[in-house]
Amino acid sequence: MASVHQIPRDQWPSHPNYPAQVLLLGSHENFRRVSEHLVERAQTKADLGYVERLYGRWISAMRSHEGYEEHKLYPYLAKRWGADFGHATKGHEALHTCDRDVRSAFRGRENVQGALRAHDRVLSQHLEHEETLVIPLLLGLSRGEFEDYARSSISDLLQRTRQRSPA
Ligand SMILES: [Fe+2]
Ligand SMILES: [Fe+2]
Repeated sequence: MASVHQIPRDQWPSHPNYPAQVLLLGSHENFRRVSEHLVERAQTKADLGYVERLYGRWISAMRSHEGYEEHKLYPYLAKRWGADFGHATKGHEALHTCDRDVRSAFRGRENVQGALRAHDRVLSQHLEHEETLVIPLLLGLSRGEFEDYARSSISDLLQRTRQRSPA
């Protein structure tokens, strides 16, 4: 197995492929902000209707992000770099478990803030792990490879991608 590409976090911003190849960092920042906002607003019972509506919309966006990751990003990077996405996929499952707890808290109007806080903790751990694993692999792709990745279907990519070591 090829060694998996490593670039320390503090060197990401000075990499020539930053930020063009790591736009997912923007989505993650957004997820973190919404999650913190929800925890804060769940403090007051009068705000729970607003919090529940926003949470529902936000979780739909999170699920489509996860779907993209599990169906395109992870399989491509696993094939290209030989990286293991088992723990990252388990992070999505852990978020689904927390989501069930949040929804049940909304139904009972009981401990919504605690459930959102637990969800926020699992989300932070997942995003941290995912970024540490994925960002160096995305930065390590040549411009041409990245453009090909962005415009191609995963089945085409998996057919023609060969595992290679960092250039
Ligand atoms: Fe993500
Ligand atoms: Fe993810």
